[in-house]
Amino acid sequence: MAKLIQVTNLKKIFENGSETVHAFGPLSVDINIGEFVTILGPSGCGKSTLMLIIAGLLESTSGKVEFENKLVEGPKTDIGIMFQNNTLVPWRTVKGNIELQLELRKLSLEDYEDKVNDILKSVNLEDFAHRYPNELSGGMQQRAAFCQAMIHEPKIILLDEPLGKLDAMTREKIRADFQKLWMIKKPTVIFVTHSIEEAVQLSSRIILITPRPGKIDREMKIDLPYPRDLKLKRSAKFMEYVNSIEEVFHEYGVI
Ligand SMILES: Nc1ncnc2c1ncn2[C@@H]1O[C@H](COP(=O)(O)OP(=O)(O)OP(=O)(O)O)[C@@H](O)[C@H]1O
Ligand SMILES: [Mg+2]
Repeated sequence: MAKLIQVTNLKKIFENGSETVHAFGPLSVDINIGEFVTILGPSGCGKSTLMLIIAGLLESTSGKVEFENKLVEGPKTDIGIMFQNNTLVPWRTVKGNIELQLELRKLSLEDYEDKVNDILKSVNLEDFAHRYPNELSGGMQQRAAFCQAMIHEPKIILLDEPLGKLDAMTREKIRADFQKLWMIKKPTVIFVTHSIEEAVQLSSRIILITPRPGKIDREMKIDLPYPRDLKLKRSAKFMEYVNSIEEVFHEYGVI
């Protein structure tokens, strides 16, 4: 498989005056084209920091990140990003927020009109296109932010706990929708979650991170067919993956 993203000996130490926090690393990982890789680790192990550095939004202390052998030296605009706190601006409607992503990338709103409507429909937000973020529920805001991250059909998507604030039912629904979308378009995804079950359901590979300072404990290929629906989730093989990951975190005293 062709390597798309290479992270080599990456490390981040935050220094604020006399206080230093060794967030993660050094760690190295390669991501191949079309993979769905999940970074799974306890709170505070440096996952968000790692994602920010991969996106070119934060500098590392040492080590490097490369996309197709090119060093990341500033913000990457050709990727889709959705972080823990959604990035909707309050003064624009749902549709306006999605269009903002197109404007920033100098893409034509006319060319994308159908796509904007389609993606809103796919997350059941078509009736809320002209509402402002503060008129939406938390789950609806997350779904709108999801559309925002996906509208330009990025080939690389970084998602940091995108479903964290959603209720269990909406979360299940969006997981399924997202999986469908991934199966069709096959973007390369780096996904961060605390949920072991979510990681097993979505990922082709899971990278388990130790407590801070985060290092790679092990990698696990998830050899289950897609789509991974409710029936598959109840299978013995699915549970085996979940259990073996739970054991790792149990050993760390995290669960
Ligand atoms: N800007 C910052 N300045 C100082 N320390 C920071 C900064 N950002 C993060 N940290 C510290 O780095 C460590 C890793 O934080 P990070 O947000 O990457 O963890 P995380 O794995 O994403 O956690 P969670 O699962 O809770 O989101 C934490 O101890 C945090 O306090
Ligand atoms: Mg985080």
